[in-house]
Amino acid sequence: MKVLRPASVLLLAVLLCPVVSYAQHPLPAVVRQGDRYALTVDGAPYLILGAQINNSSAFEATMPQVWPAVEALNVNTIEAPVYWEEMERERGHFDFAQVDMLVRQSRSHGVRLILLWFATWKNGSGHYIPQWMKLDEASYPHVLSAGGPPVDSLSPHSEATLKQDRLAFVALMQHLKATDAAHTVIMVQVENEPGMYGAVRDHSPAAERLFQQNVPEAVLRGMGTTATGSWKTVFGDQADGFFQSWAVASFIEQVAAAGKAAYNLPLYVNVALRDPLNPGKQGSWESGGATDDVLGLWRAVAPHIDLLAPDIYSPEYAKYIRTLDLYARPDNPLLVPETGRQPAYARYCFATIGHGSLGWTPFGIDATSDYNPPQGTAEGAARLDTDAMAQFRYNFALLKPISGLIAQLNLAGKVKGVAEDDGPAPHLDHMAFGDWTVDVTYGRPHFGEGRGTGGNTPVRGEALIAQLGPDEYLVAGYASRIVFQPAGKLAGRHRQFLAVEEGNYVAGKWVRSRIWNGDQTDYGLNFATAPRLLRVTLGTY
Ligand code: DGJ
Repeated sequence: MKVLRPASVLLLAVLLCPVVSYAQHPLPAVVRQGDRYALTVDGAPYLILGAQINNSSAFEATMPQVWPAVEALNVNTIEAPVYWEEMERERGHFDFAQVDMLVRQSRSHGVRLILLWFATWKNGSGHYIPQWMKLDEASYPHVLSAGGPPVDSLSPHSEATLKQDRLAFVALMQHLKATDAAHTVIMVQVENEPGMYGAVRDHSPAAERLFQQNVPEAVLRGMGTTATGSWKTVFGDQADGFFQSWAVASFIEQVAAAGKAAYNLPLYVNVALRDPLNPGKQGSWESGGATDDVLGLWRAVAPHIDLLAPDIYSPEYAKYIRTLDLYARPDNPLLVPETGRQPAYARYCFATIGHGSLGWTPFGIDATSDYNPPQGTAEGAARLDTDAMAQFRYNFALLKPISGLIAQLNLAGKVKGVAEDDGPAPHLDHMAFGDWTVDVTYGRPHFGEGRGTGGNTPVRGEALIAQLGPDEYLVAGYASRIVFQPAGKLAGRHRQFLAVEEGNYVAGKWVRSRIWNGDQTDYGLNFATAPRLLRVTLGTY
């Protein structure tokens, strides 16, 4: 069955579903409408407002340090690892206690769960394989560099490694199917940042044989080339890296296909990115993963993976936005499953959603005091619950009550979002919606023109607009000024507000708390740092 289905087919599948519990809780799915996507949970569009916990935090002993941080952030979903070394301590004996604990606790804390399958690859290495595999190097070999020492990564050409990973992943998926009829688990990440550092491709005997053969048809199709022949003939200088991507994608495709056959949940692969602006040469990024140069290859070779998801750890505006553009493709639904939790990243929440993303998830959200360099300093880790997280809390507090509506409008192409550029002034953004354009400026006072478009210090502004009707919009912002101007067939006329209501949705109905007018609207719609949602009805004179 094709993985990505139009919404109507999904609905039919749900209606015809013979299993009572599944009819009540249809399977989570990635649905497509034109070139846009949504994740559906319980049959309705769902926006992932997520928190990923630290790598070693998914234990019963550490979860008490996870929940307060997760709850303070007001997320609807957590991402947590399943450790292969823990799940299959003895070969062929599966212990799901850790998985069951995560599902049980997520359910009781009222959040959905995305499981991260830490197996053959975790940041390119095999550090999470069970000990009985680590002790059997002959059966589960490492990648060999060209004439050099073995690389700290398992060979994707080992049938034995593939077989064990596939068996274990299928066991996990079968177990979820048997125990999670309510679909607390909504997605599974297959492996973690697969690929390797320290070599561009495997030079083991098995790899060398395959490298001399012709490039498989799926790779040619995915890379959009009509050339045929050996890897070197078709891809020249780039042959080594593309070959490694094919090997890793083929391995993961087999794991994913078997897992999906056991239990048809959405599956994704996360990506350690190459520099989106100045990538340099193969070898300067993790080799084998779904970097932007091989997205077509991965989509063609691994069709049982629903999407390839960028982990974004570059807070610079040009890099962040370029990455969103690269991964939001007609053939690839966007999802940001990891991003930095430093304040500089918080302003990208709305822009990410405005790119059609299925969700946005800062990494390292727990109070274990574990941290990794891109996440900030040890002090930053300790400061998780204080000012450092304020804008992340703001984003989620604002979006949580309207997350389903935003996902639904996003599927219809009605949502746009922007983040403040950290380049030189002027700091301004434009969005176009039919007969209206929206100008966003940053760092302005709420009354008067102030210092123009010089921006915020530090840079932190963002804005989100969702179109409800031709002249009706939901509007939110952070440290930004939002101005609607007539355009299209309204060009030349003057805008007037028919109503600017602050409020929110309660049980699906808009509830107004007050009307904005006077100083609150005469110089644009000015947002400070308190979560405020406006419903704006526009007219002209
Ligand atoms: C990306 C990985 O996917 C995570 O598991 C974690 O190692 C972070 N990097 C660390 O910053």
